[in-house]
Amino acid sequence: MIIEDFMPPTGESSVRDRLLAGLRSYPKMIPSMFFYDHRGSELFEHITGLEEYYPPKIEIPLLASTARKLRHELKDCDIVELGSGDCSKISVFLDEVPEDIRATMAYYPVDVCKEAIEKSACNLHVKYPEMEIHGITADFLEHMEKIPGDRKRFFCFFGSTIGNLSEAKAMEFMGNLGEVMNDEDRLILGMDMVKDIDVIERAYNDSQGVTAEFNKNILNVTNDNLGTNFDPDDFEHVAFFNREYSRIEMHLRAKRDMEITVPGLNEKMIIVKDEMIHTENSHKYTAKDIEKLADAAGLDVEEVFTDDRKWFSLVEMVKR
Ligand code: AVJ
Repeated sequence: MIIEDFMPPTGESSVRDRLLAGLRSYPKMIPSMFFYDHRGSELFEHITGLEEYYPPKIEIPLLASTARKLRHELKDCDIVELGSGDCSKISVFLDEVPEDIRATMAYYPVDVCKEAIEKSACNLHVKYPEMEIHGITADFLEHMEKIPGDRKRFFCFFGSTIGNLSEAKAMEFMGNLGEVMNDEDRLILGMDMVKDIDVIERAYNDSQGVTAEFNKNILNVTNDNLGTNFDPDDFEHVAFFNREYSRIEMHLRAKRDMEITVPGLNEKMIIVKDEMIHTENSHKYTAKDIEKLADAAGLDVEEVFTDDRKWFSLVEMVKR
């Protein structure tokens, strides 16, 4: 088992610059990759178990059935999972693959959260000792070329994480992936589909307030990196479906006027009551959007695995 670390350390200037740029823009924003420190990754795991948060409830059985269809194509393959988190999804997939095939495979989990990679690589190593594991901590938007390409690869991007990217960024990401992919490589892309808006909004406004805590934790991560003095309790969790952009938006709304100290900056940052900090977009897709993303990457849609209600899709794409 190998783990390679390409993440800049907490508080490094490139990280500071990204956070500062977002907080100085209007409206203020914090990039959603900053949700996933150790605590944030734990809170997200908690979210995946919530009654209202439907995506994993559909995606997980779909992963099992899809793996049963693909398992004979997996011999001597590398699986590269982008945004692997706690690796619970790939476990569902690998459970359906016979052990003698797993023994010929290597698994490359890629995630921004070092703790998540370390913990899950260890768990997987215990569960599948026959399989090679090579963990990478990196922002997958930047380090795609770090992944060897001498064998057939299955790029897995589950959980509709692509939905966090703006349309332009998603297109760019798909374009890069299309360039990196070889003729025999496959992409399996998890996409959360457009559905009843109440169902979607409930998934991001759970009754236990876990999503609210997850949202507010991004301010703790900001404090750790910038030395700011945000108090998460001074903010209210806001999540709603934006029809025009077909996406859930999460924001933090200030409960009062405040002055935030930013070490290294001369002026204080002023936040007024009811001002919103935009923390996440989570796009919901149509069948047409699937085609559009494939086109952007120069890929063809080979097959769409979905559930009866078409709430979630695992889309298999190949090089055109
Ligand atoms: C991990 C990005 C897929 O957008 O649904 C869950 C993150 N945010 N609840 C999503 C999330 C609020 C999640 N993704």
